[in-house]
Amino acid sequence: MLRWCAIVLLVCTGAFGNPTPEMPAAYDTIIIGMGAAGCTAASTLSKAGKKVLALEAMDRIGGRVNTVPFGDGVVEVGAEWIHGTEQSRVYNLAIQNNVSVLPQDIDFEVYRSDGSIGDKKVLNELLTFSLSVIDDPPETPEPLGQFITRRLKDYMKEKYPALLADQDFIDNLLEFLDLVIDNYESSNSWNEVSTESKYTELGGYQHMSWHRHGYKTLFEILLNTYNNGPGYPNLDIKLKKEVTQIAWPQDPTQDVVVYCKDGSSYRAKNVIVTVSLGVLKERDTSLFVPSLPTEKVHIIHNVSIGVICKVILRFESKWFSNMNFLYLWRDVDKKDVSPEDDWLLNIGEVSSPMGCSNTLTLWFSGEIAKRVETLPEDVVKRKAMELIRRFMGKNRTIPEPIAMLRSSWYSNPYTRGSYTYDNLSTPQYPHARATLAEPLVDSSGAPRVLFAGEATDNTHFSTVHGATDTGFREANRLLTKAKL
Ligand SMILES: Cc1cc2nc3c(=O)[nH]c(=O)nc-3n(C[C@H](O)[C@H](O)[C@H](O)COP(=O)(O)OP(=O)(O)OC[C@H]3O[C@@H](n4cnc5c(N)ncnc54)[C@H](O)[C@@H]3O)c2cc1C
Ligand SMILES: *[C@@H]1O[C@H](CO)[C@@H](O)[C@H](O)[C@H]1NC(C)=O
Ligand SMILES: *[C@@H]1O[C@H](CO)[C@@H](O)[C@H](O)[C@H]1NC(C)=O
Ligand SMILES: *[C@@H]1O[C@H](CO)[C@@H](O)[C@H](O)[C@H]1NC(C)=O
Ligand SMILES: *[C@@H]1O[C@H](CO)[C@@H](O)[C@H](O)[C@H]1NC(C)=O
Repeated sequence: MLRWCAIVLLVCTGAFGNPTPEMPAAYDTIIIGMGAAGCTAASTLSKAGKKVLALEAMDRIGGRVNTVPFGDGVVEVGAEWIHGTEQSRVYNLAIQNNVSVLPQDIDFEVYRSDGSIGDKKVLNELLTFSLSVIDDPPETPEPLGQFITRRLKDYMKEKYPALLADQDFIDNLLEFLDLVIDNYESSNSWNEVSTESKYTELGGYQHMSWHRHGYKTLFEILLNTYNNGPGYPNLDIKLKKEVTQIAWPQDPTQDVVVYCKDGSSYRAKNVIVTVSLGVLKERDTSLFVPSLPTEKVHIIHNVSIGVICKVILRFESKWFSNMNFLYLWRDVDKKDVSPEDDWLLNIGEVSSPMGCSNTLTLWFSGEIAKRVETLPEDVVKRKAMELIRRFMGKNRTIPEPIAMLRSSWYSNPYTRGSYTYDNLSTPQYPHARATLAEPLVDSSGAPRVLFAGEATDNTHFSTVHGATDTGFREANRLLTKAKL
C-alpha cells in the first residue's frame, strides 16, 4: 500500500508536474501582486539570492501606478507624484539612477462658475490656512470637515468679515475645501475623515513628478531592467496570473501552495501578499485556507479605502496658461446643472500633467468617482467639456479634445479602490495597520503568509513610498529570519 502510494506520487510529480506535499518547494518566496510593494519585495529578495516567483493578475507591472503613452508623452492614470523627498526610498532610487524628477508647480488660477476669475490671493490664503490646521488637531478626534470649518470661520471673522457674511461664497468655499480634502484622502466627504490620523508626510517637496520618464521607471529600476538592465535571473515574473487561493500549512515541513484561476498552482516556503485592501475586503474569505484570524478580518472591514477618478483630456494645442485650476461654483449657476449631471458639481481641481503636452486632468473622488468610472465615455467627454467651457471659456474658444482617458480603480477587480484613509472609526483601532501587517505563522512560529502593501504602513499608507517601504519590510522579515 505504501509502495503503491509512492509510485503514484512519483508518476504525478514526474509526468504531470502536479504538486504534492513531499515535493521540495520550487521557490523560496511567492509574491502576489507586482505593484510598488510587490516589486520592492521581489527586488530585495532577488538581490539576496532568493528564488522568487511573482504572480500578477493584470497584464502589466505597476498596480496602482500605471504610466500610459498619451499624445507626445505619457500620463499617469494612477499615482502621479513622489510625496516628499526626505527618507523616501522612491526618490532615492530615482536620484541614484540619475533619473531627473522635477518639482511640479502647484500654483493655480481660480475660476468661478459664471466664467469670472476668482480672487487667487484670498483663496490661496484660505486654502493654505485650512490645510495647515490639520497639523494641529483637537484633543478629541472629530470629523475633519467640522474642525476645519470651525477654525476657518474663526480666522475669517478676524480677517475677512465681509466674505464670511457672504453666505453663497462661504457655502461654496466649504464645498470646495471638502473636495480638496477628498481628492487628498480619496474620501467621500471631509466629514468621514478623522482629525486623528497617523499619516505623516515625508519632508521636502510634496509634488515631485517623473514627468516624461513616467512613474513606470521606478519599476524598471526596482526590477533591474532600467536602461536595458538584465533583470534578476532568480526572479520569475508571471503576468495575467490571478491568484484564487493560498493554502498555508501549520506543519513547518510543508509548503505554502498558491492556486491560480487558470488551474495552475505553485509552491514555496512562504508567500508575500500585496493585494490592495479593496481586494482583501472582497476576497478575504475565499483567498486563505485556513481562514484569516478573526482580528485581521475585522480590521480588513474596518479600515476604509477610497476612490479617485481622473478624467484626462488632450487638446491639439495648449489653450490654457497655468498648470492648475480651481473651480468654485456659485449657487445660482448650480441650477443649470440637471440632477443626473450632479457629478459636475463635485469637481474642485483641474491640473495639467507633466508627462505630455496640452493635457488636462479633472479629479473626482469618493462615491462620485465611482459613478464617473461607469458613465458612458461620450457623456463624460461632452459634460467635462461643458464644465471646462463654463469655467474657462468666457474670453476664449476652447477646442474639442482629441483624446480622452479615464481611470477605473474601483471597477478594476484587482484594485477595488485607490488608496486607504483613516476614517472616523479609525481611532477605535489604533493598531489596525499593524494587525493588517501581521504574518500568518506555522506551528514553529515561522512566517508563512506575509502582508505588504500601502494599507499596512502605519504612517505612510496611501502612497507609493509607503507601499515600497512595506515590501522592503516584509522581504527583510524573511531575510532576517533565514539568517537566524
Ligand atoms: C488615482 C490615484 C492617484 C494616486 N496618486 C498618488 C501619488 O501622487 N503619489 C503617491 O505616492 N501615491 C499615489 N497613489 C497611491 C499609490 O498608487 C498606491 O498607494 C500604491 O501604488 C500601492 O501599491 P501597492 O503595492 O500597495 O498595491 P498595488 O499597486 O495595488 O499592487 C497590488 C497588485 O496586486 C495585484 N493583484 C490583486 N489581486 C490579485 C490576485 N488575486 N492575484 C494576483 N495579483 C493580484 C494587482 O493587480 C496589483 O498589481 C495614487 C493612487 C491612485 C489610484
Ligand atoms: C550617475 O551619474 C554619475 C555621474 O555622472 C555616475 O558616476 C554614475 O555612475 C551614474 N549612475 C548610474 C546608475 O547611471
Ligand atoms: C475676460 O475679459 C475681461 C475684459 O478683458 C476681463 O475683465 C475678465 O477678467 C476676463 N475673464 C476671464 C474669465 O478671463
Ligand atoms: C469591526 O471590528 C469590530 C470589532 O472591533 C467587529 O465587531 C465588526 O464586525 C467589524 N466590522 C466589520 C464590518 O467587519
Ligand atoms: C470607516 O470605514 C469602514 C470600512 O469602510 C466602515 O465599515 C465604517 O463604517 C467607517 N466608519 C464610519 C464612521 O463611517
